[in-house]
Amino acid sequence: MMRLNINVDHVATLREARKGTEPDPVAAAALAELAGADGIVVHLREDRRHVKERDLFLLRKTVKTRLNMEMAVTDEMIAVAAEAKPDMVTLVPEKREEITTEGGLDILASAARTGDAVEKLKDLGLFVSVFIDPEAGQIRAARETGADMVELHTGSYANAGGEAVRIRELEKIRNSAAEALSLGLRISAGHGLDYSNARAVSGIGGIEELNIGHSVISRAVFHGMEKAVRDMISAMRDCEGDGRCSRA
Ligand code: PXP
Repeated sequence: MMRLNINVDHVATLREARKGTEPDPVAAAALAELAGADGIVVHLREDRRHVKERDLFLLRKTVKTRLNMEMAVTDEMIAVAAEAKPDMVTLVPEKREEITTEGGLDILASAARTGDAVEKLKDLGLFVSVFIDPEAGQIRAARETGADMVELHTGSYANAGGEAVRIRELEKIRNSAAEALSLGLRISAGHGLDYSNARAVSGIGGIEELNIGHSVISRAVFHGMEKAVRDMISAMRDCEGDGRCSRA
């Protein structure tokens, strides 16, 4: 069965809205594992806009499944990965001004740099994945870097405007998975997957796991909303009447 890894970045996004301590992505990761997630993913961005070192290093201690650290191809991040020792790393492109990762790594245009990073990370004993667009050229270039796995970018499929484009983008992912498999690469997929579009990708042979964040964190907000409001009403009622509270 295809595995599901949960990206908890956006729990940290919510925490950073107040620059406080909650909600804690480390607690979210523990709950995700309790619910059956096969792994936890975090992206330590250069600008630390959501996940921080504190999260990564605590997750390293608490995650019982597999911890996947997404990272830019920089010496700084290689040094952090060397210290944190996640179960695997995923190399992703990163632009400061982007809201989220906008596309796969262009390995064809950065073969030497990416290959160098993969080598350093593998020398550290880390399992290395590269996030790429579902294109034959990128897959072959990924193979040349020595990476263990490719994560196929599903964003174009997820954002497809109409049915014809959606089918075409899905076909690209299917063909790319077949190509990667034939080259001996392990395969995952992710970005933009939600409760309606994940099913078709989960039926593609060769893809071992999906990495999903935003849609799951969004749904968790709604699943928790009613209880959260009820909890607040009951917390307020604890102090009704003469001002003396039944709980401190
Ligand atoms: N895979 C990669 C490489 C990503 O960068 C992201 C987003 O951080 C995801 C998967 C998850 O995407 P989403 O949050 O849209 O599910």
